[in-house]
Amino acid sequence: MCSNVNLEIDRYNYKFSTTYGTYNNDKAINFNKLREDTGFITFDPGLKNTGITKSSISFIDGRKGILLYRGYPIEQVIDKCSFLETSYLILNGELPDSIDIDNFSKKIKKFNFLDEEILSISNKIPKECHPMGILSSLINLLTIFNIKNEDKYLYLLAKMPILASLAYRIKRNLTPPCTDQKSYYTSNLLKMLFSEKNREHKPNYIIIDALDKLLILHADHEQNCSTTTVRLLGSSHTNLYSSVSAGINALWGKRHGGANQEVIEMLENILKSGGNLKKWINKAKNKKDPFRLMGFGHRIYKNFDPRAQIAKKIAEDLIKKLNISDPILDLAKNLEKYALSDSYFKEKKLYPNIDFYSGIVYQAIGIPKNMFTVMFALGRLPGWMAHWKEIRNNNDPIGRPRQIYIGNKKRNIIKCG
Ligand code: CMC
Repeated sequence: MCSNVNLEIDRYNYKFSTTYGTYNNDKAINFNKLREDTGFITFDPGLKNTGITKSSISFIDGRKGILLYRGYPIEQVIDKCSFLETSYLILNGELPDSIDIDNFSKKIKKFNFLDEEILSISNKIPKECHPMGILSSLINLLTIFNIKNEDKYLYLLAKMPILASLAYRIKRNLTPPCTDQKSYYTSNLLKMLFSEKNREHKPNYIIIDALDKLLILHADHEQNCSTTTVRLLGSSHTNLYSSVSAGINALWGKRHGGANQEVIEMLENILKSGGNLKKWINKAKNKKDPFRLMGFGHRIYKNFDPRAQIAKKIAEDLIKKLNISDPILDLAKNLEKYALSDSYFKEKKLYPNIDFYSGIVYQAIGIPKNMFTVMFALGRLPGWMAHWKEIRNNNDPIGRPRQIYIGNKKRNIIKCG
């Protein structure tokens, strides 16, 4: 471990201290006085080398393919915890005992209803809108009605599935979702999505389990684009609901959570056009073509994304247990094999990410493509809230990066005539 780093600029020597995390390969040079001392700033588009905070929520080792939630490996969390237990862990730092989880679940159920005011405003939403746009707008509306709510984390955990189901149902001209007080969180979600006017949906336990596991896989992933968005809003002391609403919008983009919808659309296109994998791989490698192999590559993982491996297993198990065949799953597995044997993908260390297999699970459950990213948002909610809580508890300074200005020099307006 080195405690100081020397930087030489124009023959002057500057000394900067260092910061280390729990693991010593998580290390940073403390540049918070860099501009004050040297006049320089760091230039790091995409923030690829910039640590913006200290955090104790999740840990990723991208070279080894490790993901920990509050210290617990994702593989153990998936095997031993429910999504609600995982949410409790992520929000509070420790796993709940049976009394804790019972209280947690009861408090969430207290808010398990669709607010009349939200419903009346939602009647005006055109069904052509994308469900991610509908969801972020509805979550932002909570600000108007519930800004002083003390149990804001549990309130939001209760409202997200209701508003996600409302978004789904608006798109289909269906009656508003009916909440069920008796069901477990994920079962309630499936009922709210798929029940019809005179027919209550009874979700299959195999499907509840698969969806619950996918929500767990999405629960947190340190400083990704949407979480950083939520933290940034938290740093300016914007309220929780508006911060999460902004996170939903950040997630929507196809380089981030929107990739899960794009993956299935890409696989369907490959299948429709005859399944020529070589052609599609060459297209992804062609720098003149904007196409990228969706569901491949990650900023941090330069090895297998452990979530992708678990999602693949969930997809395989689900398809088997439901006794259905899915040509898209077979194609995805072949495409993965093909890409991983290609030198371009090997050299650039591009592996399947979480979004490569998650859409196959959603599809088997009966969730339409434009709702895939909404499902991701439901899973990511505990992570967003924990980061918002952490930034407020740490009292981190407001996020305010610098820039290198490359526009015009000062000039005068000269009007003719
Ligand atoms: N297909 C083809 N080439 C790729 C891909 C891909 N999917 N991903 C990265 N590359 C190439 C890229 O062109 C670049 O090549 P070069 O060095 O020759 O310029 C190199 O690999 C490094 O890529 P990058 O874009 O600089 O890496 P990044 O860390 O900025 O981007 C990424 C990461 C996830 C945005 C990117 O890999 C990507 O666009 N993947 C496809 C979209 C996707 O699956 N997104 C989901 C991410 S995981 C879930 C989530 O976080 O939401």
